[in-house]
Amino acid sequence: LGHGVNRNSPIGIFDSGVGGFTVLKRLVEMLPSENFIYFGDTARLPYGSKSKDTINLFALEAARFLLSHKVKMIVVACNSASSNSMGLLRKNYSVPVIGVISPSAISAIECSISGRIGVIGTYATIQSGAYLKILEKDKKLRIIQRACPLFVPLVEEGMLQHKVTKLIGQEYLSPIKNFDADTLILGCTHYPILKPVIQEIMGNNVLLIDPAIETAKTVKEYLGKNSLSSERTTKGKVSYFVSDYPRNFNNIAKIFLGITIRTVTTINIEEFSKKTKEQ
Ligand code: DGL
Repeated sequence: LGHGVNRNSPIGIFDSGVGGFTVLKRLVEMLPSENFIYFGDTARLPYGSKSKDTINLFALEAARFLLSHKVKMIVVACNSASSNSMGLLRKNYSVPVIGVISPSAISAIECSISGRIGVIGTYATIQSGAYLKILEKDKKLRIIQRACPLFVPLVEEGMLQHKVTKLIGQEYLSPIKNFDADTLILGCTHYPILKPVIQEIMGNNVLLIDPAIETAKTVKEYLGKNSLSSERTTKGKVSYFVSDYPRNFNNIAKIFLGITIRTVTTINIEEFSKKTKEQ
């Protein structure tokens, strides 16, 4: 760990926007005495439709912003950033970096009985092949992947049980159903919010893997094993930063976290990145 960083330092977590709240929520549940610094890159979202180079640049800048807050670890809540930029982040920064891909893929491998696994995510996640790379190490597994880009705006519009969401869900998920997958990885920050609809379409025999839960378990285990858990005996706090304060921020925060966030700091990530690069 770097200068002035110790086991009581906060955990940094970033996402392209507020979708990462699904991961934050699980982290706070499982690690109540930790402090968190959350950064949502709302000015530059979505990441899921962008190229690898752009996602890499944004991920490096988001991580550097978190490091300026002396975090002891970085959690990449965004599937699009995790699937494209984990290697680069680990190469560039010395704090532990944990993403959402491998905890979810490993859990799917452990849970699938038939060995037929589905993966859904943004275009950036699916095209990166990051989930495939892990799953295909086991030659017995059969994998089907599908990008479901419309799920993100549907969640942000709060259309969690809407007939349109069900129709789009059927359209996206029918190939996975026909493939007879017994396990489905919800490979995007927003998809766990749609669990009821996805479960209804896929049927009760299909196990849904929630990256938020798997990642929070992995973070907890890592902190424990490496003597990095906070020694605080009181409840930790979360500080929220965004690169733009969108009009619908509070509605979306309510959908994801179930609470109203009182204090959010808006930062100019491009200014910050320019300044810190010159130093
Ligand atoms: N956070 C992104 C992900 O998990 C979804 C939203 C976006 O495309 O930026 O892939």
